[in-house]
Amino acid sequence: MMGEAMFKSIRDEIDAMMARDPAARSRLEVVVCYPGFQALLFHRLAHGLWRGGWRLLGRLVSQLGRWLTGIEIHPAVVIGKRLFIDHGMGVVIGETSEIGDGVTLYHGVTLGGVAPSVDSHNQRNTKRHPTLEDGVIVGSGAQVLGPITVGRNARVGANAVVTKDVPSGVTVVGIPARAVQSRGKPKQAEPRFVAYGTPIGDLSDPIARSIDGLLDEVQTLRARVNRIEQRSVGGALDVEDGTVERGREGEGREASDPPQGKC
Ligand SMILES: CC(C)(COP(=O)(O)OP(=O)(O)OC[C@H]1O[C@@H](n2cnc3c(N)ncnc32)[C@H](O)[C@@H]1OP(=O)(O)O)[C@@H](O)C(=O)NCCC(=O)NCCS
Repeated sequence: MMGEAMFKSIRDEIDAMMARDPAARSRLEVVVCYPGFQALLFHRLAHGLWRGGWRLLGRLVSQLGRWLTGIEIHPAVVIGKRLFIDHGMGVVIGETSEIGDGVTLYHGVTLGGVAPSVDSHNQRNTKRHPTLEDGVIVGSGAQVLGPITVGRNARVGANAVVTKDVPSGVTVVGIPARAVQSRGKPKQAEPRFVAYGTPIGDLSDPIARSIDGLLDEVQTLRARVNRIEQRSVGGALDVEDGTVERGREGEGREASDPPQGKC
């Protein structure tokens, strides 16, 4: 029964890898040719040994996995379901990292500490590596450093250096990483996976998006003022529908407006 569950979980992981790699053609190909899959098997064993108190043995298994796959995962790392490490070479995942479900990492990614060599003794047994929530994609060569959280479905661009929290659903690029977001298409609550982390719409700086929002607001307010002015032409305010209160000539206030003097 336990073997059956384990087999199903391995099959789910293979299927998840195939779904996220346009180059994958069969399950057998994933098993024999994908270092990300093989590294995950080594990690499951190493993690089990680590948790069982067999710390050195866990590290040895982890090192064996590193020699064979080029992917270094500390045995203490907590990894959710369906992690996909594509290509994999040069990936380093530090001891106190946490990885949610359905996360994708490309080659050369580091989930590391900010300054592990400084005052190392005091850093022992403290959280010093990142947490990646469900659905995060980290592009090749990206360095995600420190006990930060990369929120659900966020994307980290290739070669970015991230040292601050990344909110859910946001894409960050560059050094230091800054946010860029999709424009044009409405944001999806649960974006579908796109191979290589490429977003579906155009990207724009969030500042540009804020300015767009402010312009929309100005247009809405201008239309509202025009409406009020039309209704109050000649000082005769329209009170028929009860939406406009009587005021000085040329002025009107809609009943739904917030009271004056508050902001
Ligand atoms: C971040 C990412 C997801 C954005 O994808 P995209 O939709 O193609 O983005 P665009 O090309 O429209 O770029 C939008 C802006 O971000 C910049 N940008 C995109 N990716 C960047 C990166 N990795 N580093 C720095 N800037 C980047 C672009 O230059 C552009 O800037 P501009 O508006 O000033 O011209 C993607 O570029 C990326 O890095 N994906 C990871 C891919 C990967 O690791 N592949 C390895 C597979 S083997």
